[in-house]
This record gives sequence, structure tokens and C-alpha cells, in this order.
Amino acid sequence: MSTKTILITGGAGFIGSHVVRRFVVQYPDYNIVNLDVLTYAGNLENLRDIEGKPNYTFIKADIRNQSEIVKILHEYRISDIIHLAAESHVDRSIANPNAFVETNVMGTVFLMNAFKDLKTSGVFFHISTDEVYGSLGETGYFTESTAYDPRSPYSASKASSDHFVRAYGNSYGLNFLISNCSNNYGPNQFPEKLIPLVINNIQYRKALPIYGDGQYTRDWLYVEDHAEAIDVIFHKGKHGETYNIGGDNELKNIELVRAICAEMDVRLSREKGSSEELITYVKDRPGHDRRYAIDSSKLKNELGWKPQHDFSEGIKLTIDWYLENSRWLAHVTSGEYQTYYEEQYLKR
Ligand SMILES: NC(=O)c1ccc[n+]([C@@H]2O[C@H](COP(=O)([O-])OP(=O)(O)OC[C@H]3O[C@@H](n4cnc5c(N)ncnc54)[C@H](O)[C@@H]3O)[C@@H](O)[C@H]2O)c1
Repeated sequence: MSTKTILITGGAGFIGSHVVRRFVVQYPDYNIVNLDVLTYAGNLENLRDIEGKPNYTFIKADIRNQSEIVKILHEYRISDIIHLAAESHVDRSIANPNAFVETNVMGTVFLMNAFKDLKTSGVFFHISTDEVYGSLGETGYFTESTAYDPRSPYSASKASSDHFVRAYGNSYGLNFLISNCSNNYGPNQFPEKLIPLVINNIQYRKALPIYGDGQYTRDWLYVEDHAEAIDVIFHKGKHGETYNIGGDNELKNIELVRAICAEMDVRLSREKGSSEELITYVKDRPGHDRRYAIDSSKLKNELGWKPQHDFSEGIKLTIDWYLENSRWLAHVTSGEYQTYYEEQYLKR
């Protein structure tokens, strides 16, 4: 008898696929329902290895469709939700903010409407970002009580959805959890994001674009450590609370790119320094946040989580994965991954 039926939204995306795998494999008593509309960022090839597991179901659906979501939550008797589905790329949010409001804000509200009407004792766990806190100077850290100051349409949409989650907790008694995490990296990340883009471009000797002066600072967390933190918060977190998640790996973008270049020279047996020659400074992103740094001591002290990978180890694992999975990358860059759902699911 299963103890929980957990809906994980956005499970075909980068972080979501690691969370889905972790829950499916580590909790065979749970039923895991992965709901994802498969935008350009959704790739079911990420979950090829677990798609035959008896406690795993995939549903192609859109969180912007309220009536469909209500139906699915009832049909599958969902007990809990871990909500990752989102539009997630800052540059895309500057080009097309409406999509971010529709999915990240409206989609979250639609999911909560459906969930609160189920009247389960389970939890709505909203996965958010440290970008809601704005930008830091040279010093200081974001804590859970830092005032929100979102500065891009992406972070404004995530901040808005965080507010709605807390408001639903207050107004409707919804059991909720929120986590705000720093930048993730690792296997299966769509190559529009900095780390996979740099690895891919070095391989093909293409330019490595660096915004502005390259001094933008981010904290980096290995994606499996994020999935573990989500597991810990889901099981041990206090309902109604927020937890910051960080990797204690603060790096300036230029330092990060140089570190990848050095590692790639070794892996590809190229002359030392040859990858760095590909670095090209490009026009800055408008309103680019200078520094993010996160204090995750609440999560560490209260729930006992800490990251298992430091950056030097995590980046080696990541580079290994991209070099060993050239087929995955080729499918993503050619667009072939978008036919996987039709080929594998619709013909069954
Ligand atoms: N990537 C990071 O560094 C990072 C850091 C902190 C928090 N987050 C948050 O974690 C979550 C996942 O991020 P990611 O990097 O894995 O994103 P991603 O873009 O790789 O994946 C998002 C997934 O959501 C799905 N999706 C998008 N719109 C949908 C809709 N309307 N209905 C159903 N599914 C939809 C996509 O198909 C995709 O599979 C997001 O909520 C993001 O804000 C990401």
C-alpha cells in the first residue's frame, strides 16, 4: 500500500528530472507522477533509465490549464506536490515576460487552487530561487528574512509565486514549504545555460561568451545536492517555513569559465591555455545582478543537510557527463529530443 502519491511538476526539466529519479528510486512505496508540458526545456530522455519503474507515471499536461489540472489531481489522488515547473531562463524573460507570468505565477496559483480543494493533509512544496532577493554588494548573504527585491521578469515572477504560496497558507490554511536555491549545475542542463554552453562550445572550438566584465558572482550547487535538499525539506521541513539552499561555492563568472577551460584542456588533450583563447566578452545583459550569495545555515542546522560536492568535484562530474553523453547533447541541439514523447509514449 503506497503511503503517498506525489505530483512532481516540471520533472522532465533539468532539476526536476534529478528530483523525480531520486524519489522514484529511493522511495519505492511512493507513487511519483511527473507532470510536464514539455516546453523546449523539457526532455524525457533525461528519465530514460527510470521510465519503466512501476511507481513512476508521466503525464503531459500544462499547469496553465486549470480544469485539466483539477482533473488530474483528482484522478491520481495526489497527496503532495513538489512544484518545479517554470519558465527558468532570465534572458528569455527579458525577451518575453508574459510567458513567465502565465506559467510561473498563474500556473502556480492554478495548481494551488486544485490542491487546496483536495483537502489532503499533504504539502505543497514550491521550489524557488535566490534571485528573488535581488543583488548583493561585495559582502553579505541572503537569509530567509532578506527582503524581496526581484530585478528581472524571471525573478519577479518567482517572487510573485512565492508570495502567492504564503498567502494561500495564510488565507486557506494550505500546508506549504518554500525553498530558495542558488544556481545549479550538473548533468542534463539545457545548453543555453552557462556551464553546459561553455563545455559544449569548447568541444567545438566556438566562442565562449562572457557578459560585461565577467565579474558577476554566483553561488553554484551541484544538482544532485539540490535534489537531496528537496528530499530532506520535504520529509523534515516544518510546514509554513522557507529554507535557503546554497553550495558554499561563490565564483565570479570569469573564474568559473577559466576553471572549465583548464579542465577541458586536460580532458581533450589540448594545449594548456587553448580553451581560454575562446573567451569573448559580449554586451551585458540589461539590469544584470552583480552578486548572489546564500546563507543556508537554517537548513544545515535545523534539518542536517549539507552539500556533498564541492565545486572542483562537481564540475569534474559534470564535464565527464557531457563528454560521455554526446548523444544527449546532439539530440538537444538538433531538436530531436522533442520527438521522444511521441515515439516512446504515444505508440504504447
Ligand atoms: N536552474 C537553476 O539554477 C535554479 C536555481 C534555483 C531554482 N530553480 C527553480 O527550479 C525549478 C526548475 O528549474 P530548472 O532549471 O530545472 O528548469 P528547466 O527550464 O530545466 O525545466 C522546467 C520544466 O518545466 C516544464 N514546464 C514549463 N512550463 C510548463 C507548464 N506551463 N506546464 C507544465 N510544465 C511546464 C518544462 O517543460 C521543463 O521540463 C524552477 O522553478 C526554477 O525557478 C532553478
